[in-house]
Amino acid sequence: MDACDFLSIAVPGVRSLQPYQPGKPIEQLQRQLGIADIIKLASNENPLGPSPLALAAVRAALSDVHRYPDGSGFELKKALSAHLGINNAQITLGNGSNDVLELIARAFVQSNDEVIFSEHAFAVYPLVTQAIGGRAAITPAVNYGHDLTAMHRAITDGTRVIFIANPNNPTGTWLRRDELYAFLRSVPSRVVVVVDEAYFEFVTAPAYPDCLKWLPEFPNLVVTRTFSKIYGLAGLRVGYGVSHPDLADIINRVRQPFNVNSLALVAAAAALEDRKHVEASVVQNRNGLQQLETGIKNLGLDYIPSAGNFLCVHVGDAAQIYETLLRKGVIVRPIANYGLPEHLRVTVGLEAENTRFLDALAEGLLRH
Ligand SMILES: Cc1ncc(COP(=O)(O)O)c(C=O)c1O
Repeated sequence: MDACDFLSIAVPGVRSLQPYQPGKPIEQLQRQLGIADIIKLASNENPLGPSPLALAAVRAALSDVHRYPDGSGFELKKALSAHLGINNAQITLGNGSNDVLELIARAFVQSNDEVIFSEHAFAVYPLVTQAIGGRAAITPAVNYGHDLTAMHRAITDGTRVIFIANPNNPTGTWLRRDELYAFLRSVPSRVVVVVDEAYFEFVTAPAYPDCLKWLPEFPNLVVTRTFSKIYGLAGLRVGYGVSHPDLADIINRVRQPFNVNSLALVAAAAALEDRKHVEASVVQNRNGLQQLETGIKNLGLDYIPSAGNFLCVHVGDAAQIYETLLRKGVIVRPIANYGLPEHLRVTVGLEAENTRFLDALAEGLLRH
């Protein structure tokens, strides 16, 4: 068979697509450097692990994995509806919330339609936009965060979707209730606004909004959340969107019938019940964030104040420091691909992990 230039036959958006760069897996670093005792603070996972209730639910469901999952996710939707005070018909379940973000783009954006998001915003927004041939309208950040005035100015007749991460990953910046509400009021109802609240449960600031409350007023609003972060179920892949039922109906049309697996469905429903696990995770995150902030200040470095379970540290030569940390068995996330080549993002870990990161960073700085 003749060799084919597959790139030339790929759809235009995919041709120049740069795949998502995940945090380096522990096993990969083990293989590369042959070192043990590696810690990973690179993917904003919950260092306390999953809820014991979720694990018990997975164990109980294991013997049924020869069955297809409930494609409607009825039980999980019921649990979510009760937990959030919404209706089943408002929910779109996803294979992680990334899946929901992609479904929204596929349902509403076609070639050359515009999608607005901010500079330094979560990497999946440009990916899903470009893959389907949409045009990204990227607004400059202010103080590393979303500039809602610029985002409003960017709206044109061709705008279909606006992605807002609150808080944003990787910067940790967040939008207040008053400013986000005013923005939503200013967006024409023909434009779908996605407020991505992947880190919602971690945020303790009183002025941080719960956008679910605004759904009755804004039928063009989709709020996305996930079980990957505070609930500690990143490996199972389950997230969701909440919106007006008419909008959920459209988004659900492009969903694969069994996009959430049976173990994820039961684990998520059980995790929702475990308030103790969530509360312990909030406390551990608050303390860990404080520990990192203090340690970073003591090293004479700056960081971007964060509402999430991670912190962006200004280290200067981030590529070098990243490599030094790797050699010491500490995996963090370089974020040059987010337009932040002098920062590293570190996920809040357990106290001993944070200490190890700070010690390794101190040594790394001495070397450079
Ligand atoms: C802002 C934001 N949104 C969405 C996600 C997607 O998470 P998942 O697909 O695991 O739900 C992440 C994950 O890092 C994130 O940081």
